[in-house]
Amino acid sequence: MITNGFTKVCALSELKNHEGKRFLVNDVDVALFKINEDIFALNNICPHQHTTLIYNGSIEDGCVICPAHGWKFQLKNGKMPDGRNGLISYPVKLIDNFIYIKAEDKNTNW
Ligand code: FES
Repeated sequence: MITNGFTKVCALSELKNHEGKRFLVNDVDVALFKINEDIFALNNICPHQHTTLIYNGSIEDGCVICPAHGWKFQLKNGKMPDGRNGLISYPVKLIDNFIYIKAEDKNTNW
């Protein structure tokens, strides 16, 4: 279901705190994270060697760490800690305990 460009992806209860989950949203590979009360959606393809493991990264200081070689990306905007472009971040909405993501563009910003 799509609402104003937002696609319903899952129930809030399907996410575990501080653990990522991978979704294909309109063919966009998305890593979704729940950090306490906040939900973040980032592109799941690492700009380093294009592995699709971001969803499996550990969380540290507001960043997700790519499990392949340790590149870090800020959850709030996908940028690297030094401000360089990293991962695209996607708008998220929580409606009636379901999560909606607006991810329609397969482009990356590498
Ligand atoms: S592929 Fe992500 S850090 Fe190398």
